[in-house]
Amino acid sequence: MMDKSLIKKIKSKREFSELREIDIEKNFELFSKKQISEEEKISLTKEQLRKLFSAFLSKKLLSLKNKPYEWILRKHISTRERLPYYDCLYKKLFLNTKDNENLTVFDLGAGINGFSYNFFPKNKKIEYICFESVGQLVDLTNYFFKKNNINGKCFHLSLFELEEIKKIIKEKKGKKIVFLFKIIDALESVELDYSKKLIFELMPLIDEIVLSFSTKSLGGKNKFKVDRRWILNFIKENFDVLEEFEFGNEKYIVFKSHN
Ligand SMILES: C[S@@+](CC[C@H](N)C(=O)[O-])C[C@H]1O[C@@H](n2cnc3c(N)ncnc32)[C@H](O)[C@@H]1O
Repeated sequence: MMDKSLIKKIKSKREFSELREIDIEKNFELFSKKQISEEEKISLTKEQLRKLFSAFLSKKLLSLKNKPYEWILRKHISTRERLPYYDCLYKKLFLNTKDNENLTVFDLGAGINGFSYNFFPKNKKIEYICFESVGQLVDLTNYFFKKNNINGKCFHLSLFELEEIKKIIKEKKGKKIVFLFKIIDALESVELDYSKKLIFELMPLIDEIVLSFSTKSLGGKNKFKVDRRWILNFIKENFDVLEEFEFGNEKYIVFKSHN
């Protein structure tokens, strides 16, 4: 168990001040057995947390902003890169759903993807539920939903708080689609094979998963093809793949359980 005073120390940094504590603890554990000082462990933990939670995020988003949704979507690498494709992406993802069907999207590790709600096809009845560890992004998203009367809610939960997430998913009726957009790297760097566990546990509760990853490494000049055969093989071995496609530098794979 991590000492509460150490958690407090890490949370004194604004960028980590509203992180779920389980994420701070799990990342601290990665270094807890190293033969180094407490200070060094804290500093390595902060470096790791920065990579997972704030590297791709403009600091401008850490306080509530009354800005148009497209302005917000440009302040995060993932949504900025996806911005030209949202229309086509969401049309494609909801093509095989009925107009009067109740649909719920569960977006795991959503960042600010909730700000893309307006790109959902207007003729569909979609409720959007998301989970995110960074409290400021949760507040920002919920404020946006409330102000614009959007049928959505963001929960301040870590993806390692799986039982709570499952409980929320179970409460909803109708067709359920899970988004796992650009999140598997973060999960794997904290706990090996956690993405597989997550997918196995969620699948019985839902209809489809849409998983995405970047086909290029983040961070500019030295872009290289990232090898994701492990996740593609895992999905193909255990589930039915409905679609596989790319928009920009993002690959999407849509899958469901075997009938
Ligand atoms: C690369 S971003 C992708 C954001 C979003 N899925 C998208 O593609 O637009 C990863 C997001 O996952 C969140 N995240 C990382 N680890 C998490 C965890 N264990 N629990 C909840 N959220 C997490 C980060 O705060 C960040 O917002």
